[in-house]
Amino acid sequence: MAQQNNNRAQFATKLGVIATTVGSAVGLGNIWRFPYEAGNNGGGAFLICYLLCIVALGIPVLCAEFAIGRSTRSNIFGAFENLKSSSKWHWIGYIGILSSVMILSFYSVVAGWTMEYLYQSFTGGLNLSGAEAFHNQFTSFSTGNWRPILWTVIFLLCNYIIVVRGVKKGIEKMSNLMMPALFVLLIIFCVNSLMMPKAKEGLEFLFSPDFSKITPEVVVSALGQAFFSLSLGLGTMMTYGSYFSKDTRIVRSATITASLDTLIAVLAGIIIFPAVFSFGMSPVQGPALVFEILPSIFAQMPGAQIWSVLFFFLLFLASLTSTISMSEVSIAFLSEEKKMSRIKASTINLIIALCGGVLSALSFGYLSDLNFFGLFDINFFSFFDFTSSNLLLPLGGMLISIFAGWRLERSALKNALTNEGKIGVKTFPLLVFCLKFVAPIAILLIFLLGLKLF
Ligand code: PFF
Repeated sequence: MAQQNNNRAQFATKLGVIATTVGSAVGLGNIWRFPYEAGNNGGGAFLICYLLCIVALGIPVLCAEFAIGRSTRSNIFGAFENLKSSSKWHWIGYIGILSSVMILSFYSVVAGWTMEYLYQSFTGGLNLSGAEAFHNQFTSFSTGNWRPILWTVIFLLCNYIIVVRGVKKGIEKMSNLMMPALFVLLIIFCVNSLMMPKAKEGLEFLFSPDFSKITPEVVVSALGQAFFSLSLGLGTMMTYGSYFSKDTRIVRSATITASLDTLIAVLAGIIIFPAVFSFGMSPVQGPALVFEILPSIFAQMPGAQIWSVLFFFLLFLASLTSTISMSEVSIAFLSEEKKMSRIKASTINLIIALCGGVLSALSFGYLSDLNFFGLFDINFFSFFDFTSSNLLLPLGGMLISIFAGWRLERSALKNALTNEGKIGVKTFPLLVFCLKFVAPIAILLIFLLGLKLF
């Protein structure tokens, strides 16, 4: 099918494959972004749209990314060049790189908030009582100019230290340990939230959809969240697919990754919404939601400090495994296509993310009134978030599905998904149908809906 670069690093074990792809998928997207998007977009109505997007669009595109990555053993640019060298498909790579730097910029700010909360938990600074106090604490921290920047910079440096060391050593080891620990902690918090006085209202908000609340905005947000949460549409999963061994089962890995990722997002919802209602708060809080609710939850648990230290530490690690994976998109491009050393490529990635990160960090304070060159009424943080998640990732995903469904030889796709015919994949025709028709048409329609062209 394509040239294979056999010297390329590979994940060592089956568990390593799952832990690493889940490590990329699970992060702030599940625990911070999903609850606030669900809160802003009507709860159950959002969840239904989100689940549909994961199943009908997310899993097929994830399979396509893994398949293209492993068959070409290449980064997103090299992959398309290997497969269709004379065409313009490698432009998908530019979209991917642009999205990865945008996401890295605002994501690092939120990861920085996590570090501040970890620090506050350690030093007893979260020893407050009442939702009001946590609200004031978050507002005064996030609107300040120095601390959010400082933590963003520290976070990006941590990310840098890991990515310069290369694929296998850092990422795989860390993901293997962290994911199970995070999962156990979330289950404990779920049980705690389910015992809260207004747990029922919270669960109803999340699980009983009011279909009249499904608006174009809700659908666009759900699509963006699905792609963001699965790290899709920018070549991250394609790059990780290029480290898969020839025996890795692609469809199974994609299904497990998507299921675990969705499970963790839903668990986060089960933790947050019962608490929101029990503390008499509104679910429509935007990015602040989780940072105000979680400390309030910990405060009323016995051993509050230990829980919050543990949680923010794991959330910090989960953010790192995600930023490592998004950094890999541009680093693999610079080092493999532009022949730069890994150090140089990682440093360029760091410098660009630092610039975007500082602009995003200031978006809640000094730059909060910015009108973005007079074009949009949103700050840098929201601009990076909205443009990457709701526009660029679905666009990348649409092009990848068109490529896999229409341009790639059917036998090549089949070989990749069946490990050269060694395993049977009953869902192959369904996957092809989704890649050829469902994903491109649905994403296009959702775009048009979003543009309110109907
Ligand atoms: N999927 C990650 C999360 O949910 O936190 C975010 C992410 C990671 C997006 C890697 C894109 C990416 F390439």
